[in-house]
Amino acid sequence: MSIAAFKIANTLITGRSAIDQLPAELTRLNIRHPLIVTDAVLVRSGTVAHVLERLDGRSHGLFDQVEPEPEIAIVEACARAYRQGGHDGLIGVGGGSAIDIAKSVAAYAGHEGALETLFGVDQVTRKGPPLIAIPTTAGTGSEVTNVAILSDKQAQLKKGIVSDFLLPDVALVSPLMTLTCPRGVTAASGVDALVHAIESYLSLHATPITDALAIGAIKLIAKALPKAYANPADLQAREDMATASLMAGMAFGNAGVGAVHALAYPLGGRFNIAHGVSNALLLPHVMAWNKLACVERFRDIAAAMGEPVAALSDLDAAERAVHAMARLCASVDIPKGLRAFDVPEDAIPRMAEEASKIERLMRNNPRVLSARDIEQIYRAAY
Ligand SMILES: [Fe+2]
Repeated sequence: MSIAAFKIANTLITGRSAIDQLPAELTRLNIRHPLIVTDAVLVRSGTVAHVLERLDGRSHGLFDQVEPEPEIAIVEACARAYRQGGHDGLIGVGGGSAIDIAKSVAAYAGHEGALETLFGVDQVTRKGPPLIAIPTTAGTGSEVTNVAILSDKQAQLKKGIVSDFLLPDVALVSPLMTLTCPRGVTAASGVDALVHAIESYLSLHATPITDALAIGAIKLIAKALPKAYANPADLQAREDMATASLMAGMAFGNAGVGAVHALAYPLGGRFNIAHGVSNALLLPHVMAWNKLACVERFRDIAAAMGEPVAALSDLDAAERAVHAMARLCASVDIPKGLRAFDVPEDAIPRMAEEASKIERLMRNNPRVLSARDIEQIYRAAY
């Protein structure tokens, strides 16, 4: 008998005015003195002000030192600020990085051992302080997942804390919070959301529930991402992307992601390529490889992306899906080729070895991949 659990953030609040619910949620969670976890760019752009204006007179702390692809040391610094400030809850405001740091601090704040002992699956032993996640990009889905990804610069590796105790108490998702998101980040995080939806639809652990969310997200992203990129003030496109990212997050938080993410991690860990970009670089090549295992599912993806597939064979329809993904990435100016990012070609065997060991993701992938297969994919993407 097979069993599937479906777990997401406890409460989802969506819509253009979602942010107005912040005071009520702080009261409900009994948070009187929150620490806001964010980055300096979001403070300067005025995005964090939307949060500060809604604290209803509560005193707060501001930790604004989150960086893209955040290092483990940032969790230590933020946890120190949390303890020393005597806070009683966390508000993560930002892209995946700020929310992942807030989730990590929630797990680490009351933990007795070293931070390193939390890495891996189910190493967190108890629920931390209450956490509200407010995404400012439409992409990572971190507001509804049980994973936090951190960079270990020394080991040149990405490390994950995976635990249901990381699921935020509230995901507050408003398109207004994404209006200041720069074009390049809109593109990269939007493609990350697309990859979440596609990988969860193809995952060996997909269920009818995650399928519905994944296909719904793909449909929205195919239409809305080019519009949000072309006109960052298009509120409907921003709202569709925020919703799609949330749906894709709920899908992959339960079905898992696969080889695109596994192969992307060494690119982020070793060469600091932004997560969404490294996913986009690999997406068409991993998909060309995967399609043999599940052409019917690729047909569904092609249809969701608006391709006319009714008269096509499954294999032709699957190829249409791969082309449609590549075209969408190109339309939002995602660069092509690992070469453009100064990845040396002789690093490929080592990256392949590393990616093949990410069992947590590889076990979801529809086609079995050896280290040699992965090497071929990296070369195709070079
Ligand atoms: Fe991702």
